[in-house]
Amino acid sequence: MTDLTSNFLGIKSPNPFWLASAPPTDKAYNVIRAFEAGWGGVVWKTLGEDPHIVNVNGPRYGAIHGRDRNLLGLNNIELITDRPLEVNLKEIKQVKRDWPDRALVVSLMVPCEEKNWIDILKRVEDTGADGVELNFGCPHGMSERGMGSAVGQVPEYIEMVTRWCKENTKMPVIVKLTPNITDIRKPAQAAKNGGADAVSLINTINSIVGVDLDVMAPTPTIDGKGAHGGYCGPAVKPIALNMVAEIARDPATAGLPISGIGGITTWRDAAEFMALGAGNVQVCTAAMTYGFKVVQDMIDGLKEWMGEKGYTSIDEFVGMAVPNCSDWQNLNLNYVTKAKIDQDLCIKCGRCHIACEDTSHQAITAMVDGARHFEVIDEECVGCNLCVNVCPVENCITMEPMTSGVDPRTKQPIDNKFADWTTHPNNPNRVMEAAE
Ligand SMILES: Cc1cc2nc3c(=O)[nH]c(=O)nc-3n(C[C@H](O)[C@H](O)[C@H](O)COP(=O)(O)O)c2cc1C
Ligand code: SF4
Ligand code: SF4
Repeated sequence: MTDLTSNFLGIKSPNPFWLASAPPTDKAYNVIRAFEAGWGGVVWKTLGEDPHIVNVNGPRYGAIHGRDRNLLGLNNIELITDRPLEVNLKEIKQVKRDWPDRALVVSLMVPCEEKNWIDILKRVEDTGADGVELNFGCPHGMSERGMGSAVGQVPEYIEMVTRWCKENTKMPVIVKLTPNITDIRKPAQAAKNGGADAVSLINTINSIVGVDLDVMAPTPTIDGKGAHGGYCGPAVKPIALNMVAEIARDPATAGLPISGIGGITTWRDAAEFMALGAGNVQVCTAAMTYGFKVVQDMIDGLKEWMGEKGYTSIDEFVGMAVPNCSDWQNLNLNYVTKAKIDQDLCIKCGRCHIACEDTSHQAITAMVDGARHFEVIDEECVGCNLCVNVCPVENCITMEPMTSGVDPRTKQPIDNKFADWTTHPNNPNRVMEAAE
């Protein structure tokens, strides 16, 4: 039996898919429909203090599209909730009462004064919500007022505010991190030192998605001017995955629960975050692009994959890829691969040849006996994988490991012994004992 039940910090939900704090979780109407569609939990759109904030009344989104208009990246200049605090709190209380089996966490952002945090925590606690998430990530508007990423970029502030919250509430405290920082381990360590129960990441990345060359201003343009916004969606997934892994691998934050966010669109994206240490995941852009029902594909897909792999609960694979996430210097330099083209799948477009010929290692033919023919020249191939990535036909080019014989390029026998840079003779700082 495959069980998707999630228990994150003692907060139970029927599956690990939560909606991230954003427009999909802005009001009871949305959250109820999300729960009806199957979402395991939500982080309510960030609450602030009254008087409530004001959003722009013009375009607040911009996007990067693929050639087929697939949305790859979304940029926004929206702020935290623009609805009165009391209205939100009333709705949160009612929704939690009506949906006791779903996770309902409330995102918060107030000025950096202890009394402000104490006040809002008390009011959230009265709603019966399952926990709070501290929004130290919003990169525009709020950060100009000393909140959001203005806090998240200063580890000392993170630690201080987290400690205030932990001292003044019994609810689990999740600290949401900004990716707009050089070393993500520092804010995560600060959150842990302040007593955080978990970190969630990533919030959005500082971005300008385009420039209107007629108006000569960044887009989205508000009356002739633009401002940087926050970037999210599939394009940010690699950045988020790396940051999650950095925290999961760091001995200083080992064991700190992580809620993974950033570009999650499919069950596979979610499984990847979880394999790298995320106990659950949060989703925003995918729901905004495809609607709430996208969660059904995530649930079905994850369940099916877990069944195939023999996992009965999500805890069995959370963090499983962390020990294999290493640094470059630990990669096996004796591992040799060569590209191989499946002639039956090849449509003879020539892209692999051009890429390899112009920018790699001149290892793919273009013509053989006067006819278009694309084949890898093993004597030149360094196994870089560029051709695989530019080929428009999936699985047409594969990377095949060589485990015996002689590498036709280096003329050296294949050595199946592991040898990385730390032991390599060209490394002046090599570990001598290991090299011998
Ligand atoms: C329009 C919009 C508004 C957002 N508002 C908030 C917010 O109020 N609080 C917050 O913590 N994150 C906010 N986010 C960030 C998301 O919660 C999430 O961290 C980010 O979008 C990355 O996830 P995704 O790639 O699945 O969208 C917002 C994102 C978008 C697109
Ligand atoms: S793997 Fe790299 S070197 Fe080998 S054929 Fe492909 S692009 Fe060329
Ligand atoms: S890119 Fe792929 S399909 Fe195109 S010629 Fe090369 S192997 Fe064939």
